[in-house]
Amino acid sequence: MNKIISFSKRRGFVFLSSEIYGGFGSCYDFGPLGVELKNNIKKSWWQEMTRLKDNIVGLDSAILMSPKIWQASGHLTSGFSDELVECKKCHKRFRLDLIEKDKCPECSGNLTEPKKFNLMMKTYVGPVENEAAVTYLRAETCQGIYMNFKNVVDSMRLKIPFGIAQTGKAFRNEITPKDFIYRTREFEQMEMQWFCHPNEADKYFDYWKKERINWYLKLGIRKENLRTSEVLKKDLAHYAKRAVDIEYKFPFGWREIEGVHNRGDWDLSNHSKHSGQDLTYRDEERDEKYFPNIIETSAGADRLLFAFLCDSYLEIKGGRTKTTKSIKELETVLKINKVLAPIKAAVFPLVRNNSELVEKSKEVYRLLRPRFVSYYDETGSIGKRYRRQDEIGTAFSLTIDFETLKDNTVTIRDRDTMDQKRIKIEDLVSLLEEKLKES
Ligand code: GAP
Repeated sequence: MNKIISFSKRRGFVFLSSEIYGGFGSCYDFGPLGVELKNNIKKSWWQEMTRLKDNIVGLDSAILMSPKIWQASGHLTSGFSDELVECKKCHKRFRLDLIEKDKCPECSGNLTEPKKFNLMMKTYVGPVENEAAVTYLRAETCQGIYMNFKNVVDSMRLKIPFGIAQTGKAFRNEITPKDFIYRTREFEQMEMQWFCHPNEADKYFDYWKKERINWYLKLGIRKENLRTSEVLKKDLAHYAKRAVDIEYKFPFGWREIEGVHNRGDWDLSNHSKHSGQDLTYRDEERDEKYFPNIIETSAGADRLLFAFLCDSYLEIKGGRTKTTKSIKELETVLKINKVLAPIKAAVFPLVRNNSELVEKSKEVYRLLRPRFVSYYDETGSIGKRYRRQDEIGTAFSLTIDFETLKDNTVTIRDRDTMDQKRIKIEDLVSLLEEKLKES
């Protein structure tokens, strides 16, 4: 865990937010490589959930919404609270279900009786800070989807079953944010809501559970690090009739990375009741009018980034066999799926004191840069440059040498096999496109 945290900072994946002021509220920033990785995760999810599936459309709804939504959804009533306890000695506060004993985890002091603590982040909208101006930062992105259920059906002429997908920030005033970026107060969700006939909810629940697991496996998460766990009735969220957690084996144990939920008609019927608007669906084929049931898939982009880093970070004692003999200590390779790799191609001149090689390398770099995230590096030995790229998971490294100047070919090296072959510069773009294509 500590290795991943220091690696994330050292190589520009994740930084502590407001670091020069000592950090702030367990918030994190994503650095130059982190933002590329997170974008690639979201892109792959979007491709999977909107382009490769029938009848799913996208949406981007506002973070700030009417507070009436959170009343109707149950988030402001008893539904969205955690049990909070306070240490009588050091006055630190903890989430009851996240502590192991009935003593303070910091100083072993006695704890107060648990109190309900609502997780919604409050803010004011407009120039007057009074009760009438109070609203909340959204705690789950899906409420924006329910708000637009009718708009989307009408504008896109969708027929049930269909889905609406959205990615975006969500906020929760977590009592105990912990485990690096696993549990934070600001995070990004990738949610899809599948609207179906109530009789088909069970069928689609099973379908989406399988589909979501397959996506992780397709992206190379190790099978032994992935499992599902049925949520016990007593632990179900207030909106859920049934839920399965998809869990990843983090260094600190098995933890949820995604939830598949059967929300029944909780959301549409409650919003109908509270807004006075009819949110039923007129099913012409069945000649029925009903509240569709909702099967939700809900993943956290930040948690997934963390899981992908843990899953692909490898330290190899003594180095890999085909690398230069001089590596005596540890060699680090981020063996992440190349579709997710933050940098796709690194370009090196064999030596930096030859202006022709440098100019040719920059030409190749300029050719690739608009199409693939690329990196130019001329410092240190070629072996060192390979290892610096392997450590951050760069998919391919290209070396420009004296042969290049004669025949316009470069050496392309694959991060995983370390195989090298020569290829014509004119074929580079199509080769990389082919190799980096999502299946
Ligand atoms: N709309 C349903 C919903 O929000 P959830 O199980 O509360 O369900 C779904 O959250 C996913 O969002 C989780 O599996 C996790 O990946 C992510 N998530 C939730 N709370 C988080 C937090 N405090 N920090 C980071 N990710 C979080």
